[in-house]
Amino acid sequence: MAELRQILQHLELAAQAYGVDLTLAVPTLPPRRPAAPASATPVVAAPAAPAAPARLAPTPGETTLLAPAGPPDPVEAAFAALRREIQACTRCALHQGREHAVPGEGNPRAEVLFLGEAPGASEDKTGRPFVGPSGQLLDRILAGAMGLQRSDVYIANVAKCHPPGNRNPEPHEVAACLPFLTRQLALVRPKVIVCLGRVAAQNLLGASESVSKLRGRDLCHDGIPVVVTWHPAYLLREPAAKRDTWEDIKRVNRLLGRPEVPKSPGA
Ligand code: URA
Ligand code: URA
Repeated sequence: MAELRQILQHLELAAQAYGVDLTLAVPTLPPRRPAAPASATPVVAAPAAPAAPARLAPTPGETTLLAPAGPPDPVEAAFAALRREIQACTRCALHQGREHAVPGEGNPRAEVLFLGEAPGASEDKTGRPFVGPSGQLLDRILAGAMGLQRSDVYIANVAKCHPPGNRNPEPHEVAACLPFLTRQLALVRPKVIVCLGRVAAQNLLGASESVSKLRGRDLCHDGIPVVVTWHPAYLLREPAAKRDTWEDIKRVNRLLGRPEVPKSPGA
């Protein structure tokens, strides 16, 4: 009976995170595939302990709470300088067609960093990451599956400028842009990085495998555990894959030492 109650709670939370379709999808979940053996590919890492030091749990609105008088926060100052640099960047041709570069945003001391591919049209217009339809789904996933808001986490992209026609960023464009991500990671020092989709995963990990091959594996970047999941845009096209993302986010919660399923979703 307790088990049934737990399953029902799962379904309800999943439905809140992704929409009602998942409530039908979950009962037919296939058994979880076992993790690939550690020797399978060079990108597989031992289930590394998070390298980041212990820190306070993220607090909603922390960014604004840091603002009042007193000495400037060095991390905030470094972020501001990095933002200005990205906004003025001309390292690749993508700057020619952009309306706004999209540096990234969120809690500068977030425990989890979500990594996307590149800004889309809505992001190019606003200068903010994941504000279009994919971003709205990402917000629902954060709230429903983690009990977090976007201001609790950090959100960045591999490429900071919108590629024309939403094409993937070219390797030379990614190469020009990756130093910005490296600096963002060094500032945030997240405990977990979540790669949203193939472009984020392959470029961060230096891997060539598909999302379906990388999901569910113990991966890491610079000692930081990496969880690979589907891109929200893919989930919008393939709603059945949301069950995978639900499992992937439960892994993120476990890695962070949080409850697998939030006690109060959206709180
Ligand atoms: N897709 C991405 O990968 N990043 C964004 O910021 C928006 C959509
Ligand atoms: N292709 C991608 O680039 N990302 C996904 O999440 C799925 C397919």
